[in-house]
Amino acid sequence: MIERLLELKVDALNEIKEVTTLNDLEQIRIKYLGKKGEVILMMSKLRDLPQEERPAFGQQVNLVKNELEQALYDKKQGLEYEELLKVLASEKIDVTLPGTKFYQGTIHPLNQVIEDVEDLFIGMGYEVAEGPELENDHYNFEMMNLAKDHPARAMQDSFYVDENTLLRTHTSPVQARTMLAKKGNPLKIICPGKVYRRDDDDPTHSHQFTQIEGLVIDKNINFASLKDALLKMARHLFGEERVIRLRPSYFPFTEPSVEVDVSYKKKDGSIGWIEVLGAGQVHPNVLTMGGYDPEKYQGFAFGIGVERIAILKYAIDDIRHFYLNDLRFLNQFKGVNK
Ligand code: PHE
Repeated sequence: MIERLLELKVDALNEIKEVTTLNDLEQIRIKYLGKKGEVILMMSKLRDLPQEERPAFGQQVNLVKNELEQALYDKKQGLEYEELLKVLASEKIDVTLPGTKFYQGTIHPLNQVIEDVEDLFIGMGYEVAEGPELENDHYNFEMMNLAKDHPARAMQDSFYVDENTLLRTHTSPVQARTMLAKKGNPLKIICPGKVYRRDDDDPTHSHQFTQIEGLVIDKNINFASLKDALLKMARHLFGEERVIRLRPSYFPFTEPSVEVDVSYKKKDGSIGWIEVLGAGQVHPNVLTMGGYDPEKYQGFAFGIGVERIAILKYAIDDIRHFYLNDLRFLNQFKGVNK
């Protein structure tokens, strides 16, 4: 029996030596050391031996098993290494081939404006808040002081999904949501996001556009606080030499309300004005519905049209450029804010 075992060992070692592929090596392992491998089966022969010879034979089988396992392992390493060398040789780089061009993306001009405005306001202690684009009539209109029959609803032609649900027409509902979430505590937020209106199909309007809402509520907030924030923003966006002009206006959620123009120098050297946003002091009704006592708290709010800012900042002639994803257009804005 011992002779048979040693024969098997010699055969196995020879086969391992000769083998040239990992696959064949695995076959050898199965043949000798698999569940029904010949060396493994020798174990079951123990029973045929006299009691006193069994331990010595068992030990021999284990020794052969270990020896073969080591030989299989060594050979496997060798074959894997050879295979690696083959792969490396076949994958040699041909440095004369033309290279692959990598196209680098850029931040969308609208997002650049948003990030720029966020940067400014975060630096002044504001938080960035967000809300859903599919909004309840309640937040979009009623909490903004526009009851169901309010004529000013016509100012913002809406896309309704059902009686109570619409695509938000402005970012102002985030004001209402944040007020309720803050439970009567002072707040300073800006809220960038997409808004939707059934606007005319002309080059300056789109059914979807982008706004940034600003809202501050605290004690002793007055019109000067608003003007200060607006002037800082205008100068941050357009340059330190700019001034702003406030024109009386009307929004149901602010009182008094203003439209804000930013100055620019015309070609002939005179000063011109461009409207960039709407703003005002938060209407007492809006404060009350949001959980603030208008006798103790005041606030200001503003709503910026992001496309409008980008159009002015980068001298763009058609709002639709922003949505077409034409790389020739987008790539012009690489790093313009850096
Ligand atoms: N929500 C207004 C609009 O979309 C803008 C605005 C916001 C005006 C906040 C005043 C205060 O037209």
